[in-house]
Amino acid sequence: MEAKLILYLASCLLFLLHPSMANAINYADALEKSILFFEGQRSGKLPSGQRMTWRDNSGLSDGSTDNVDLVGGYYDAGDNVKFGLPMAFTTTMLAWSVLEFGRLMRGELNNAKAAVRWGSDYLLKAATAAPNTLYVQVADPNQDHSCWERPEDMDTSRNVYKITSQNPGSDVAAETAAALAASSLVFKHSDPAYSSKLLHAAMRVFEFADRYRGSYSDSLSSVVCPFYCSYSGYHDELLWGASWLHRASNNVTYMSYIQSNGNLLGAGDDDYSFSWDDKRIGAKILLSKGFLKNKVQGLQLYKAHSDNYICSLVPGTNSFQAQYTPGGLFYKQSASNLQYVTATSFLLVTYAKYLRSTGATVSCGSSVVTSNSLISLAKKQVDYILGQNPSGVSYMVGYGSQYPLRVHHRGSSLPSVHTHPGHISCNDGFQYLHTNSPNPNLLVGAVLGGPDNKDSFSDNRDNYQQAEPATYINAPFVGALAFFAGKPTTG
Ligand SMILES: *[C@@H]1O[C@H](CO)[C@@H](O)[C@H](O)[C@H]1NC(C)=O
Repeated sequence: MEAKLILYLASCLLFLLHPSMANAINYADALEKSILFFEGQRSGKLPSGQRMTWRDNSGLSDGSTDNVDLVGGYYDAGDNVKFGLPMAFTTTMLAWSVLEFGRLMRGELNNAKAAVRWGSDYLLKAATAAPNTLYVQVADPNQDHSCWERPEDMDTSRNVYKITSQNPGSDVAAETAAALAASSLVFKHSDPAYSSKLLHAAMRVFEFADRYRGSYSDSLSSVVCPFYCSYSGYHDELLWGASWLHRASNNVTYMSYIQSNGNLLGAGDDDYSFSWDDKRIGAKILLSKGFLKNKVQGLQLYKAHSDNYICSLVPGTNSFQAQYTPGGLFYKQSASNLQYVTATSFLLVTYAKYLRSTGATVSCGSSVVTSNSLISLAKKQVDYILGQNPSGVSYMVGYGSQYPLRVHHRGSSLPSVHTHPGHISCNDGFQYLHTNSPNPNLLVGAVLGGPDNKDSFSDNRDNYQQAEPATYINAPFVGALAFFAGKPTTG
């Protein structure tokens, strides 16, 4: 332990003396890129200010099969499907990033808000197109995945899928409520009319989610599973949605709801992941703020739960149980592991912020963990992603001198419609998936699935588990990067 500490201090000293040798991370550059990535995922009619210029309009008649307007929104990852559950979670996390760290984003704040709005505009349409209905998906993923096509070319069916009172989906509906409520806070001052529209839609969708209970995996089965099956059920989203509605509206109805249903977020059932599927720890951290900053009675419980979660991540504490790779990366699973790393890093810096505001610490049995330790742990994860890892590779496309070149992403791997305007059909596209050549279009800012539990990564387009980006990998990273970009001296 002591030898390690000396080594650590020596490396800090080295960093101070020779910053260039330590290959200093440029968080502001990474922040800018992490937001730009969302422009590459846009569906619909692109605005004149579009900066990811190899993309063009796509999905312009989405919704028409049901006579509704579902144009816009985000493709989730490397394909051309609009999946409601991860899109809503992405929007919630982008909004949370802006709410906590928007002040540290400087010139990037407007770009970050535009990224939130691209999601919230779409979710607002999906939630208000028809009464007692929420549109939750455009395109059949089985058909979409049998082609390798640019979004601008796609000619597979754009079926729409919805949940209703007869075919409920409390998980996707409550996450949509969370996204709309969080977004309403982002626009509260800059666009009050839009903000109140979002809040009212959020309240209605939440009521719908709570009243007609069920999982969308049961209602829509083969078109949402196994892609974005709701494995964790819908109780986590109901509490998460209520927590966001409470924060956005200050309406006591939601606090009573949380207090009478909070047992569904019990301390014993943590599995220490936070993702598009499982919102439990996100809700607990969010509710802790109510206790730490505003001393809301009845929320002490969530501070205790959040502490347990933090202790599980910190090596050396009595309840430590997380897994790290030999190179120090938080490791959860082989497919798209970095989604857990970015989400965890966001929660660490956010909880550190809440703790700092009242000088609180984390209790792990008899030991005390400070907000600075949380920040150091998050910094290690962020730095790893940006290239301070055994391979020396940045897992953010376009950041640093070495990054993956064969990203599993249709639009990025096929020639741009601007250089190759002719239609490339479903099957003709596969030559671009299987070639060893680098992608012709740089999906700047995309954070990929990332390395395995031994820090190994294969830059191979077929390797979707490691080489595919996703909007929900980037969304919480935006907040974590803003935190470090705004605090360049944090060590
Ligand atoms: C609080 O929320 C409930 C449930 O959505 C609603 O019926 C009530 O009108 C709201 N109260 C205020 C003051 O907005």
